[in-house]
Amino acid sequence: MIQQVAQILSYKKLRDDYYLLTIVAPEIAETAKPGQFVNIRPPADRQFILRRPFSIYKVNRRGEWAATIEVVFDIRGGGTAALASLRAHDMIDIVGPIGRPFAIPKTRKSCLLVGGGIGAVPLFYLAEELKGAGKRVDVLWGAQTAHKLLNPIDAKRFGAQAVFTTEDGSEGVKGRVTDVMDELLAKCGTEVIYACGPNSMLEAVTRMGQKHRIPVQVAMEALMGCGYGICMTCVQPVWNRARDQIVHVRTCVDGPVFNGARIAWDAFASDPGIRAAPVGN
Ligand SMILES: Cc1cc2nc3c(=O)[nH]c(=O)nc-3n(C[C@H](O)[C@H](O)[C@H](O)COP(=O)(O)OP(=O)(O)OC[C@H]3O[C@@H](n4cnc5c(N)ncnc54)[C@H](O)[C@@H]3O)c2cc1C
Ligand code: FES
Repeated sequence: MIQQVAQILSYKKLRDDYYLLTIVAPEIAETAKPGQFVNIRPPADRQFILRRPFSIYKVNRRGEWAATIEVVFDIRGGGTAALASLRAHDMIDIVGPIGRPFAIPKTRKSCLLVGGGIGAVPLFYLAEELKGAGKRVDVLWGAQTAHKLLNPIDAKRFGAQAVFTTEDGSEGVKGRVTDVMDELLAKCGTEVIYACGPNSMLEAVTRMGQKHRIPVQVAMEALMGCGYGICMTCVQPVWNRARDQIVHVRTCVDGPVFNGARIAWDAFASDPGIRAAPVGN
């Protein structure tokens, strides 16, 4: 994990709602793996104490000048609004790469990537790595409405099958990603599912994987404090099967990628039986 003050190479607005920053960060780019994230300190001096976590969208190690990473975000509060005000040549304080990446399957060949809205961010870098490893990649993006689908043009480029769902029917199939999954899994011969998006979607995709006996890796979000594994702000409830109980693991260092089948989805409502004991995933 490296901390550096890095220069913004470029700023771009994607569709209506998403912002893309390309950051010159050679040391982070050299070691970053799909599913890992960076922690960025928003500008504006002391107004923001905590860094904000963002998945790595793309890595370019062959940049003309130096290796870069890209992050994509939407504005949720003050920190992301401050980041959206940055422009090329501004400097930014960044730490990364952080967390456990997606596992690339050794033998399984056919991979379905399921992204919900802005949650599709880490799946772009993953798609590149999977394709480089000779895997088949299919894509299923879902969102509330068309302009919340993340970069569907690129997704069509790398997906053998690229299917989009929107809840209002403004693009692709009207409905949710799980409405088309039975058919898509059969058509693509899917052997591994990777998913990132809201928890309700990750739970539904995990259950779909279990129904079809396909492993599901989920990249999860959590409120974060330190980003170093110390403060326990970011814990997720997971099953510890050996002890047959639910324990808490830290998203920042034990995740953000988890085996979907290990997440105790029912425990997200407050559960007095949950113990705050970090264990490895
Ligand atoms: C591993 C990981 C990867 C992420 N990747 C992306 C990404 O690629 N693109 C993107 O747009 N967003 C991503 N997020 C969510 C992003 O971190 C939040 O949108 C951002 O922190 C909100 O900051 P804010 O100041 O604008 O919002 P505020 O709500 O004002 O933030 C207040 C505090 O809450 C924390 N916080 C608020 N929402 C979240 C959240 N969902 N997750 C974690 N901390 C939060 C902030 O760190 C801050 O400390 C990711 C989160 C995690 C944990
Ligand atoms: S953010 Fe502090 S332990 Fe994960």
